[in-house]
Amino acid sequence: MNESSNDGKTRVLQAIDIVELISQTVKLRRRGKDYVGLCPFHQEKTPSFKVDPARQMFYCFGCKASGNAIDFVIKRDRIEFVEALQLLARQANVELPRLGVNKQNSSERQVLLEAHSAACGLFEKLFSHPQHGAVARDYLAKRGFSAEMIRKYQIGLAVESWDMLLKSRAMKKFTPQQLAMAGLVKAREGGEGFYDTFRNRIIFPIRDEQGRVIAFGGREMPGSENPPKYLNSPETPLFSKGRCIYGLDHARQSIVETRTVAVVEGYTDVIMSHQYGATNVVSVLGTAMTEQHVAILKRFADRIVLLFDADAAGDAAANRAVELLLSQPVEIAIASIPDGLDPDEYLMQHGLESFQKLLADAQDALSFKWKQLLHDFGAKGDLTSQQKAIEQYMTLLAGARGSGRIDPLRWGAILARVSRLTEIPTDELNKRFKSDRKRPRASVETRSKEPEPASSISNASAAPSNARDRAERWVLGALLAEPSRWAGVQHELSVSDFSDQYRQKLAEVYWAHQRDDGEPVFSELLGLLDNSALKELAIELVQETEAMGNLDRMLTDGMAHLKQIRHKQDKNSLVAQLRASQQAPEDEIALLRKLQDSVRRPDIGQAAP
Ligand code: UTP
Ligand code: MN
Repeated sequence: MNESSNDGKTRVLQAIDIVELISQTVKLRRRGKDYVGLCPFHQEKTPSFKVDPARQMFYCFGCKASGNAIDFVIKRDRIEFVEALQLLARQANVELPRLGVNKQNSSERQVLLEAHSAACGLFEKLFSHPQHGAVARDYLAKRGFSAEMIRKYQIGLAVESWDMLLKSRAMKKFTPQQLAMAGLVKAREGGEGFYDTFRNRIIFPIRDEQGRVIAFGGREMPGSENPPKYLNSPETPLFSKGRCIYGLDHARQSIVETRTVAVVEGYTDVIMSHQYGATNVVSVLGTAMTEQHVAILKRFADRIVLLFDADAAGDAAANRAVELLLSQPVEIAIASIPDGLDPDEYLMQHGLESFQKLLADAQDALSFKWKQLLHDFGAKGDLTSQQKAIEQYMTLLAGARGSGRIDPLRWGAILARVSRLTEIPTDELNKRFKSDRKRPRASVETRSKEPEPASSISNASAAPSNARDRAERWVLGALLAEPSRWAGVQHELSVSDFSDQYRQKLAEVYWAHQRDDGEPVFSELLGLLDNSALKELAIELVQETEAMGNLDRMLTDGMAHLKQIRHKQDKNSLVAQLRASQQAPEDEIALLRKLQDSVRRPDIGQAAP
């Protein structure tokens, strides 16, 4: 780190005082050499959040959030590394070298996004078409959709046709293969050609957090019995049902403000709720809530309220909620809308305030489940049925706990709540769960073994000590800065050519992305790295490349050096094989030939003479 004076990240971290930074949002008190306060990343009443001015780090004993000033801003503002770095650089008046992010990259994802955007425009146009769109428009109007919501949610129409989209001028610039990859058309079975996925359906575009269209849901037209009722886009590189949250782009602001998100059952529920002013409403798309859904929502909300139609909160949904609540530090509550009303009907009849009260009064999943069990066993004073309810409750908790890593502190807090509900003392509960106790312990140990950010960074990014280190850094740096160069490298080098474990890991992620998802946009790649040392290494390598200003040379020299090393290794192993050879003479001769060949051609990457 000492050598690279251009290291923007280091300069930002040096210029920022983490205590001052965190004091802007957390009330800190001095304790010994550290500062402590209430953790901003989880709810707590006693401070377990610590800021260490000497190491310029923060750490929370409660939720285990930790890191340097940049990590803090990433978590505080829910932004990505590069954004946080830039924000702090502005604050500290540090000028950053420009990052080699190839913005206009023509990666596969980019093409898919463009195809979705074009298709969305096409569907919208058909929806407003005087004749084609009449039925769909009437139907939505009858259901009370306002023109504003139709525009805001970009509702569209796919007409009754096998190739309207396929043949349209708007989609001309995409190949049928690309459209198939986007899930917009399908290949004909057995025969040649393709046909439109969405036909005669009202189209609900599905957008990501930033409002980019990434998939579609198509509802069957009124009167046309053509199941499924909703046809959703298939899983594509852009879209995965288990991760997708409908309406999040519009709801995000209000979720952050209220720290509460309401999850309803479908497209129409979301749109109508927003129309009536309940803007912190989203939905998952015809699937059970997944851990990934919770992980995303948790970034914005402290409290997730699952809103079900009356009595629809079946056992399965409640059990799932308990599981999720155990595995993640977030409150999950369940509410059901009375009188069999849909959210919009409820809003219309009772108003926004009542709706928000419904959310506020929602029962946390633990009590909800407990009451559900008591109800099922009809237990009021009857000891045996109460006993049965307890057994079943414990079984559920033990099972849910066994299925994931549960923070021991969280488990303790949960047991305290369970104790209050069931009126069983915590000691007693602890005994019941004793046999299953190994898991949380183990997770404590793994956690404390994770490298602490500040110390591991210096390891991972230590100044290159020899030619090989430098070559590896040059190649990786050049590839990160200009992903299109990979085409010329992939046949020459492989992940195993990188010797250092961090560089090898970085190469592995990079190679996989190139292979499976196309050229990585740098900030997205950073998001894929789950280890802060790796992130730092990646950013440092890109900056090193920029600073050198001669990417061609870095790449050619670096590659030549690494190929030479591999060549030497190959030769050594050939020699070793020859020495150890107990083989038939022909094999020996073949080996000798190989050896001679390789001596004649020191650069095996070059074409044979
Ligand atoms: P609903 O059947 O309740 O639909 O399914 P809805 O949103 O209330 O639609 P309307 O009011 O009848 O027009 C709830 C959600 O489940 C998913 C959709 O996300 C839907 O919004 N779903 C339902 C599917 O994905 N596929 C289906 O076939 C049905
Ligand atoms: Mn409905």
